[in-house]
Formats: sequence, structure tokens, C-alpha cells
Amino acid sequence: MNKLLAIAGGALGIYIVIVLLVAVIPAIELSQAPAGPGVTALTPLQDEGRQVYAANGCGYCHTQQVRPLDEDKPFGRPSAPGDFAFQTPELLGSERTGPDLTNVGNSKPSDVWQYIHLYDPRAVEPESIMPNFKFLFDVVPVVPPGETAVPVPEAFAPKNGKVIPTLQAKALVSYLLSLKQSPIPGFSTAVAMGTATAATPPAATPAPAPTGYAYDAAKGQSLFTANCAACHQASGQGIPGAFPSLIGNTAVDDADPTLHIQTVLHGAHGVVVGGVKYNSAMPPFSGQLSDTDIADIVNFERSAWGNHAKPVNAADVAAIRAKGN
Ligand code: HEC
Ligand code: HEC
Repeated sequence: MNKLLAIAGGALGIYIVIVLLVAVIPAIELSQAPAGPGVTALTPLQDEGRQVYAANGCGYCHTQQVRPLDEDKPFGRPSAPGDFAFQTPELLGSERTGPDLTNVGNSKPSDVWQYIHLYDPRAVEPESIMPNFKFLFDVVPVVPPGETAVPVPEAFAPKNGKVIPTLQAKALVSYLLSLKQSPIPGFSTAVAMGTATAATPPAATPAPAPTGYAYDAAKGQSLFTANCAACHQASGQGIPGAFPSLIGNTAVDDADPTLHIQTVLHGAHGVVVGGVKYNSAMPPFSGQLSDTDIADIVNFERSAWGNHAKPVNAADVAAIRAKGN
């Protein structure tokens, strides 16, 4: 009997020691990690959004942990303990069915994009397998004062009525937009904007560079797909009321490429394009795209979908970059 007790007790003791060493103590230590540089507490609305995220199982398909692997580079720098100082329990996730969301506030900074995507992911990412979250929206006959209707593309919008976000959707989007990696010296936080769309070929064929110009139109097309198509769509037509069409656009289809290049470098907000004022912001790309990359994208846009503006060289981009914002 005593022997049995000794064996069982010994095993239990070893088990407890192992649990303390590999789980409990590391967890306590990690939870005491000081906040990394630039990491701030969530606002009450963002915190509510975090709960909506957890409650709706977003974490079943999305991680929030960038591993130090090549395949994770599009999502930013490797995650560090200080990133999670204000986010316990961490929503790390394990299934990577969708893209990692650690940095989605930088890669998809447009609330309008986030709302349309949540309402129906297919409206912006035609081949998405993400479920829709229409139940986070109300369909109303008249938009109440103080609310803004979500400009869902017609093919995806309800037949009657306007789509407005519920408080839960607003909280969730405010949380998603707060997911931004803060820089740590020596690590790049640059993200690819639309990794998920990289497989969909845009409906355009890039023409080769004319003499006097050195650029790679095919590379421009794939960079466009990865960085721009989520908003401006593979067709270049954009989404009415949300993202402007680049076909015949005055910045794109113009002999002077300054505004076109400036927009890609520094983003845009509140600019009137084709008589329409867009509430949604276009993110800056100066951090993650080189002069050559931007020249390739710009030239693709300037020659695709029936546009025929004079091409640019990387040196033109460098000159405009040097002038600053
Ligand atoms: C069944 C799996 C699944 C679930 C559940 C899911 N997603 Fe997704 N999500 C995906 C896939 C796949 C993509 C890539 C295609 C796309 O952009 O729609 C994606 C893309 C995204 C993106 C764009 C990321 C980027 O970098 O382009 C965001 C933001 C997002 N999901 C948020 C959410 C939120 C918030 C929830 C919960 C309300 C959620 N997802 C639930 C599968 C899922
Ligand atoms: C998150 C969504 C989003 C992404 C991604 C995006 N854009 Fe935009 N883009 C916008 C919005 C919104 C506007 C309108 C901005 C405004 O009116 O203030 C815009 C405007 C533009 C314009 C027109 C500027 C003008 O003054 O007429 C060009 C050109 C453009 N984008 C090119 C690009 C290129 C190239 C990329 C990829 C490198 C890109 N966009 C990625 C949302 C986006």
C-alpha cells in the first residue's frame, strides 16, 4: 500500500514540477513582459471589439502571431512578448486558414474595406472562403442621422434598404484597425497588402516596356494584385462609393505622373476623384515598396484596362520620393 502511494505520489509530484516549469512559470513571466515600444492599451471600444472577435471565432481561422519564418514575412516582423502587454489572454490562434492579422490595421487601414469585407468577403475578395458576418449589420430603409451606410457593391447588397454596421461591427472594426505592429529596430514591419489575393490574375495583359524605359510590366501586374487589387479590384474598376476606379482616372491616365506616384508613395485621404469624395483612406506605400516596385505598378496601371499614359522610370519615383510628403 505504501509502495503504491509512493509511486502515485512520486508521479504526481513529478507531473506538478513539470507543469510548473514548462507552463505556469513561463506564463507568469510572459504576462509580466513590459509593453514594447509604441504598444498602447486598447480603448474601451477596441476592447469590446476584441471580445466580438473572440466570440465570433475569428481566431479559428486567423492567427495573431508572426513567426520568424520566410512564409510569415508578408505579415510583418516576428512577434515579440511586449506586443501582447495589453492583450491577455492573447488571441494567438493556431489555424492559418486566413492571413495573420497582427498587422492588419496597417495593411487594410480602411474601415470601409473592413465593413464591406465583413458584410460579404466575396464583395472585395472574389475567391474568399471566409464566412460572411452579415448578422453584425442592420438593413434599414433610411440611414439614421449620424450613421453612414456601408457602400456594399450592388451585386452583394440587399435588394432593398441600406446596410449599416451594428455597435458590435463598429467595435470589431475599431479593434481590427488597432492591430498594428510597432517598429523594433532591426526588424521590418512592412506588410504586403493583399497576400490573399495574390493568386487571382487581374483581367489585363501587361505590355512590354517601350525603348527608353526599363521596367517589368508583369511584375507590376503581380505587385498590383498583391498590394492594390483588394480595394481597386483586379478589374481596376474599384468599388463605387468606396474605392475609385483607376480606368481613365485623372491621376493615372495623365501625361504628368507626379500625382499618380505621390498617391502611391504617401496614400490619400479626402481627395476628390472623378467628382466623388471618398471617406475611405488609401494607405501609403513608401515604406514597403521600392522605387522600382512603384515604377512597375504605376506603369502597369498606366497601360492596363485601356489606359495609355506615358510610362515612368524608377528614377522618376526616386525624385518624387526625395521631395518628401
Ligand atoms: C473559416 C475561416 C475564417 C473565419 C471564421 C474568419 N476568417 Fe477572416 N479570412 C479568412 C480567409 C480565408 C481570408 C482570406 C480571403 C479574404 O480576404 O477574404 C480572410 C481574410 C480576412 C481579413 C483580411 C486580411 C488581409 O490581410 O487581407 C480580415 C481583416 C479578416 N479575415 C477578419 C476576420 C474576422 C474579424 C473574423 C471574425 C468575425 C474572421 N475573419 C473570420 C478566413 C476566415
Ligand atoms: C485600403 C484600400 C486601398 C488600397 C490597398 C489601395 N488604394 Fe488607392 N485609393 C484608395 C482610396 C480610398 C482612394 C481615394 C482616396 C481619396 O479620395 O482620398 C484611392 C485613390 C487612388 C488613386 C487616385 C488618386 C487621385 O488623386 O486620383 C490612385 C492612382 C491609387 N489609389 C492607386 C493605388 C495603387 C497603385 C495601390 C497599390 C500600390 C493602391 N491604390 C492601393 C484605396 C486604396
